[in-house]
Amino acid sequence: MKEKILAFLRNRDGFVSGQTICEELGVSRTAIWKYINVLREEGYEIESVTRKGYRLLQSPDVVTREELLGYLPAHVLAGEIRYYNTVDSTNEAAKRAASAGISAESIFIADRQTSGKGRRGRVWSSPGGEDVFFSILLRPDLSPEAAPLLTLVAALAAVETAGKHSGEACQIKWPNDIVLHDKKICGILTEMSVEMDEIDCVVVGVGFNLNRLQFDSEIEDMAGSIRKETGKRIIRAAFLADFIQIFMDKYHRFLEEESFSMFVEAYNDHLINKGRQVRLVRRGQELLRTALGINEKGELILEDENGTIETVLSGEVSVRGLYGYV
Ligand code: BTN
Repeated sequence: MKEKILAFLRNRDGFVSGQTICEELGVSRTAIWKYINVLREEGYEIESVTRKGYRLLQSPDVVTREELLGYLPAHVLAGEIRYYNTVDSTNEAAKRAASAGISAESIFIADRQTSGKGRRGRVWSSPGGEDVFFSILLRPDLSPEAAPLLTLVAALAAVETAGKHSGEACQIKWPNDIVLHDKKICGILTEMSVEMDEIDCVVVGVGFNLNRLQFDSEIEDMAGSIRKETGKRIIRAAFLADFIQIFMDKYHRFLEEESFSMFVEAYNDHLINKGRQVRLVRRGQELLRTALGINEKGELILEDENGTIETVLSGEVSVRGLYGYV
């Protein structure tokens, strides 16, 4: 009911009378008054004037289910939307819910994570109030070998969303970091559970630095946020709603075609490594190569000084820029 009242207020420009809400939603005036107070406690600024009714003046910058649904058509995600003020890791929350049988295309969103996980066993710094941390649970009909490509689909959706909201060209550092002004603004961690050689579920976890201005000393050289880089404050729910729509559209096209080929050109257009020298780290050994782009398997195509071409998979190697992160 609280969501319905909020949607009602959102869809009206001016005041909406208590009587109208009562009639349309079939609740008592006392109940409306109680829900309005709950919304106020959650940070919604709602004006109430005798004989005029209620008017929504301002919404809080939160990524709750109600706020997200204010921007996201309900049909885009087939599953549930679960929001946590604080959770250990949205990837872990998604995996727990998956074991309990939650439906596919559910999303787990947190304002803050206490054990945010990065790739290669690293920690993902996840303080509350400024950024967005979320995981989408999928049950795709794909072979386990094709699942890593979902990370690249997510990277493409992430770079497009970041470009739209920052107003600047953002890039992908292979395989799935999103970069703005050479700073990492987003990371993606995909985890998969396989049973009898078939995918049971895939969790695509995304951490976006949107409004944070300060980073821990260990990451401050490398990390940035859209606001820190551009000065623009990002509305988190609007940003996430756009990401979800762009990602789900690409995800369904990827499943229909069972191929990443249609995305290779767009991915390479955003690839910051393309045409640059990179340091390839393989089994502790560092090699210098020129990155040419990715192929339809998501492998990075590299050329050595003799013109010899090889392709590498993201699990096998890590790639760094010649002078630092990119
Ligand atoms: C990386 O190392 O670049 C990947 C970082 C992925 C972080 C996100 S935040 C939401 C989800 N939950 C986690 O614990 N990790 C991912």
